[in-house]
Amino acid sequence: MIPVNEPLLGRQESEYLLECMRTGWISSAGRFIDEFEQKWASYCGRKYGIAVSNGTAALQVAADCLGLEPGDEVILPSFTIISCALAVINRGCVPVLVDSDPQTWCMDVTQIEQKITPRTRAIMPVHIYGHPVDMDPLLCTARKHGLAIIEDAAEVHGAEYLSGRNTSDPTWRRCGSFGTLSCFSFYANKLITTGEGGMVLTDDEALAEKARSDRNLAFQSRRRFYHEDLGFNFRLTNLQAALGLAQLERIDQIVAQKRWMGSEYTQRLRDIRGLQLPTEEIWARNVYWMYGVVLSEDTHMDALQFASRLRELGVETRPFFLGMHEQPVFHKRGLFLNERYPTAERLARQGLYLPSGLALTPEQLSRVCEAVKEVLA
Ligand SMILES: Cc1ncc(COP(=O)(O)O)c(C=O)c1O
Repeated sequence: MIPVNEPLLGRQESEYLLECMRTGWISSAGRFIDEFEQKWASYCGRKYGIAVSNGTAALQVAADCLGLEPGDEVILPSFTIISCALAVINRGCVPVLVDSDPQTWCMDVTQIEQKITPRTRAIMPVHIYGHPVDMDPLLCTARKHGLAIIEDAAEVHGAEYLSGRNTSDPTWRRCGSFGTLSCFSFYANKLITTGEGGMVLTDDEALAEKARSDRNLAFQSRRRFYHEDLGFNFRLTNLQAALGLAQLERIDQIVAQKRWMGSEYTQRLRDIRGLQLPTEEIWARNVYWMYGVVLSEDTHMDALQFASRLRELGVETRPFFLGMHEQPVFHKRGLFLNERYPTAERLARQGLYLPSGLALTPEQLSRVCEAVKEVLA
């Protein structure tokens, strides 16, 4: 079976891990934490990085830092992981959904404006499967209405967006550089992985301070067991940061490998009828975190049937997200009842992603493409 993801860990990771063991810095202090935070922030063009225990925690910290109050509304895509909605709901706030763009599968930024009400406090753009959200119009709307941005860049390490494409001075900016607070996950299937892990980035010193306090039980530096705030234990360990730092040192190679995989899949699959492939808009550099494909309805097959046929041929896949508005857990709470997001629904029904890990070999990639062709022949 060709696995949907297999991480690629190297010698440097082992050396750094051994250093943690030799020196005894195995918990949430140590040189790798500081270096990983600084270097990741700087790679993404930000001032401050606060490492946390996972991407879900990063989103929660971001929502907490903004001081969102019960009843406040946050606009986010339906087509995403539940972590995004949880960060909003856990604060008693209201997630307000928009549909996805049919090409990029990211939130359709043209739908944001009509969802803004006097209670809207923030927008949460989520870059999907390696492709950036169209950030310029989103930033413009946020500025116009004074809204904060919680950017979810969990799936786009190293991806870039061409900012100001209609101006005389367009510039490529890394995803993770746009949010009031920007969040990452370093789960094992991400481009950079710490096993479990996450990070919050910001340029605002006060928000950084709050995020640091939040992740560490709101301990104070002046008097340790004295608390003025409620916090979380969302600490990352030096062991985990050691893994992340080792990979960050070769991130250009990792991004190049993913882009190679993306273009190779696209070249081999582009002539197959009934299969929509990932796009790369002219204003985007996709890192193909996961190589997704969407079956058209006229194949008379849905993603579940497609996945089981591929499995018979030794290819493991994963279904796309099921939109937030289709989740029973939210219906039970009276949320999103009777809301429809046709693109998110089609993606959930017809989309899956193919093996996309860094350890995927050219031979395996060829076998995956042959299997896809065989099933759709
Ligand atoms: C877009 C997005 N946000 C948040 C998360 C949550 O990250 P974690 O699994 O590290 O909690 C993920 C996880 O894959 C994700 O894809």
